[in-house]
Amino acid sequence: MKRHLISAADLTHDDATLILDTAEELARIAGRSIKKLPTLRGRTVVNLFFEDSTRTRISFEAAAKRLSADVINFSAKGSSVSKGESLKDTALTLQAMGADAVVIRHPSSGAPHRLATSDWIGGSVVNAGDGTHEHPTQALLDAFTMRRHLAGGPGGGPTFHRGPGDGTGRDLAGRRITVVGDVLHSRVARSNVALLTTLGARVTLVAPPTLLPIGVEHWPCEVSYDLDRALAGCDAVMMLRVQSERMNAAFFPTEREYSRRYGLDGTRMAALPEHAIVMHPGPMNRGMEITAEVADSGRCTAVEQVANGVSVRMAVLYLLLGGNEPAVTTHRTEESK
Ligand code: NCD
Repeated sequence: MKRHLISAADLTHDDATLILDTAEELARIAGRSIKKLPTLRGRTVVNLFFEDSTRTRISFEAAAKRLSADVINFSAKGSSVSKGESLKDTALTLQAMGADAVVIRHPSSGAPHRLATSDWIGGSVVNAGDGTHEHPTQALLDAFTMRRHLAGGPGGGPTFHRGPGDGTGRDLAGRRITVVGDVLHSRVARSNVALLTTLGARVTLVAPPTLLPIGVEHWPCEVSYDLDRALAGCDAVMMLRVQSERMNAAFFPTEREYSRRYGLDGTRMAALPEHAIVMHPGPMNRGMEITAEVADSGRCTAVEQVANGVSVRMAVLYLLLGGNEPAVTTHRTEESK
């Protein structure tokens, strides 16, 4: 694994599997009354958030604290300093404070990459969502959630085996995942397509043509405009939030029209295969891409995804900062410099 986690596309099958397996180990301590491990004692993790966040930010903070790291939360929202300079100046300040890892969320695609390839900081950079580009830890927690529900023999079901050394039943190979909605603005969709494909799953994107990015035909997935057809036979359906804050034009006629064609309601959910799960990264627009009936149903894993996020982010921080080989010292270390 590289020193930084910028893109889900950087993860090999082995990297991703190592993170997911480590997260599975760490998830066990979430059930204990004392949830803390001493692993990152004395290390400093800075959460640098230039954009709003509820889940991701709290999740990274909880993850770092459960590993006993010192956590500094920096919220840059509202800053009027120009983007490039402010990022550099902020980074230099963090370096002066001895940050071992910087978790960054930024409205500009590429900001974490800029940080990681600069000599402004010496620690690891973790992308917590950059513009419309990538959100690798979200994809990892989504894959973790899918593995728990779907990995196993054909037909899926809760057949996940957790026995030590058990290499079977952990793979998402051949699983069919349908990702629906505002793909154009979704870093979650981009990271999921990359990671799920690496893990052997087959992804279908469903969106109105106006909400698909240019060049999507070159992505390693299928594209459809027909939600009902894409739902039949899928193992998981991931609903994306309609990201109104990133929209500067009308991408669909009305909200009603959007939810009728691309929203998940009780009738559509009933048409899913029995074992299929409904996912959403949050925050949800209830009544838009997902109805309250579906969001509150037992098949919706949105809350479980949040809980899994802590374990997955613990695994990422552990492997980047404190983990022993083979977590961070693979053949890719050199090229990551
Ligand atoms: C996502 C994000 O911020 O990209 N949310 C999250 O991290 N839980 C998706 C979204 O905002 O719709």
